[in-house]
Amino acid sequence: MLLFADTADTKVLAELKETGLIDGVTTNPTIIAKSGRNMFEVIKEICDLIDGPISAEVAATDAPTMIKEGEKLARIATNVVIKVPLTIEGLKATREFSSQGLMTNVTLCFSVNQALLAAKAGATFVSPFVGRLDDQGADGMQLIHDIRSLYDIYDFDTDILAASLRHPAHVAAAALAGADCATLPPQTFKDMFKHPLTDKGLETFLADWAKTGQSIL
Ligand code: E4P
Repeated sequence: MLLFADTADTKVLAELKETGLIDGVTTNPTIIAKSGRNMFEVIKEICDLIDGPISAEVAATDAPTMIKEGEKLARIATNVVIKVPLTIEGLKATREFSSQGLMTNVTLCFSVNQALLAAKAGATFVSPFVGRLDDQGADGMQLIHDIRSLYDIYDFDTDILAASLRHPAHVAAAALAGADCATLPPQTFKDMFKHPLTDKGLETFLADWAKTGQSIL
């Protein structure tokens, strides 16, 4: 399962990269706005930093303009994934990008039918938004299970990119539901390492080791 970082903060990305466990990055217009930086500059920097798919989202709502924007974004680097919203126009653009061999991430997916359409359009990734469904009182994780079943029944190549994940339990559930990838806020990634019994156990081991008076090096 691939783990992507859901941020455009290049300082944080450089820190996360040190773990060797980050396989790509996702951004959206909100994340770019939060970075306060020029989109092209920040996406280029991220593409140079992280060797993996880097999602950059179009801002147009009509297919012809989305296609122009996506082609421009794809010229930033070979690992750019053109992110498009799950609309009729977005899927028209997805078909065009697919025919050009460009990677796509169809975002704002909230239903099985939308995921079916994204796969038929040739999307590289589809992003079901788990947390935003949960926010509405729906079961966001059930959507990941359902899309997994759908894609397996029909042998679709589109990868399921679990998005809008808010805490480590979401990540574990998405992994067990068969998501191909998950995109995580940096803090959620860091929280995945933590368990109170790990801290407690290590504390005891270190205290006992100190009592031996030994040194390994
Ligand atoms: C990533 O591709 C999505 O844009 C992101 O995960 C959305 O997360 P949010 O619902 O917490 O804003």
